[in-house]
Amino acid sequence: MLRRPRRNRKSEVIRNLVRETLLTKENLIFPLFIKNGSGVKEEVSSMPGIFRFTPDRLENEIAECMDLGLKTFCLFPAFDDSQKDPIASVSADPGNFYLKTIEKLKSQFPEIVIMTDVAMDPYSSDGHDGLVRDGEILNDETLEILGNMTLAQARAGADIIGPSDMMDGRVEYLRNLLDEHGYKQVSIMSYTAKYASAFYGPFRDALDSAPKNGDKKTYQMDPANRREALIEAELDAWEGADMLMVKPALAYLDVILELSSNFDLPIAAYNVSGEYAMIKAAGLNGWLDTQEAMLESLVSIRRAGARIILTYFAKEFALLEK
Ligand code: PBG
Repeated sequence: MLRRPRRNRKSEVIRNLVRETLLTKENLIFPLFIKNGSGVKEEVSSMPGIFRFTPDRLENEIAECMDLGLKTFCLFPAFDDSQKDPIASVSADPGNFYLKTIEKLKSQFPEIVIMTDVAMDPYSSDGHDGLVRDGEILNDETLEILGNMTLAQARAGADIIGPSDMMDGRVEYLRNLLDEHGYKQVSIMSYTAKYASAFYGPFRDALDSAPKNGDKKTYQMDPANRREALIEAELDAWEGADMLMVKPALAYLDVILELSSNFDLPIAAYNVSGEYAMIKAAGLNGWLDTQEAMLESLVSIRRAGARIILTYFAKEFALLEK
């Protein structure tokens, strides 16, 4: 035999030498859930090891993560039902606890990078990402609401805006608005190929943000489509997105590969709540090794072409490296 591929696997040092894909904590974004109040850190029941923090407790968590070398956080607010309305008014109220928290974190941790979520669902009494009229999700009318939300987040100090709503034309709309208001340095990481997925279930528990009626299939993408992701990516790139995201990650590795092969912008992937929950649940049952499964799935996402990974495993990964 002239060719013996096993020679390149004969020892750990050799395996390390030829390894094609490396995971680094610098490329991870840690999503965190915040709720109003003080002194509370409560576990999300469908996401063992992941918590909803009140702003004071969040500060400790972020300080710990920064010490571990995690510097980029994506923050998601859980608002009380009493604050929600059909037009997501509270999302642009500069006094809301989410924006206040961003402001405080930015002054407390000079190095921190904060990504925000732009969509109506955590603020909307309908639980949809867009404005609902007679059961229909209105596209163009939603843009204005997203715009006010975005400006409020930029004003609070957000470094990266993450439109997760999947309305048409929102990247261009938000880019123009940010520029007009002097926020030229605020980046946009667009949820470019966001699929209508069952894997968001635990996230909607965490924020109590599930749609009150219907599903999200008229705006989020059909899981059966790959070519359509190229259309979304072309539009987002053209409309001024700085980074393109695929979501979920594990069931969409082909889409990650497709975008990373066809676009020069950095590709991100969101290793979503359901993907985290599956590994955690199986691990807690003793059905697989949580740590090994975590590392294997993260490296797969990276191998497929994602430079950036948003993952609930970020802290666990950073702890391993310490
Ligand atoms: C809101 C939003 C969702 C997620 C991120 N932003 C839920 C949804 O679209 O229903 C899901 C994240 C996850 O499951 O971890 N627009």
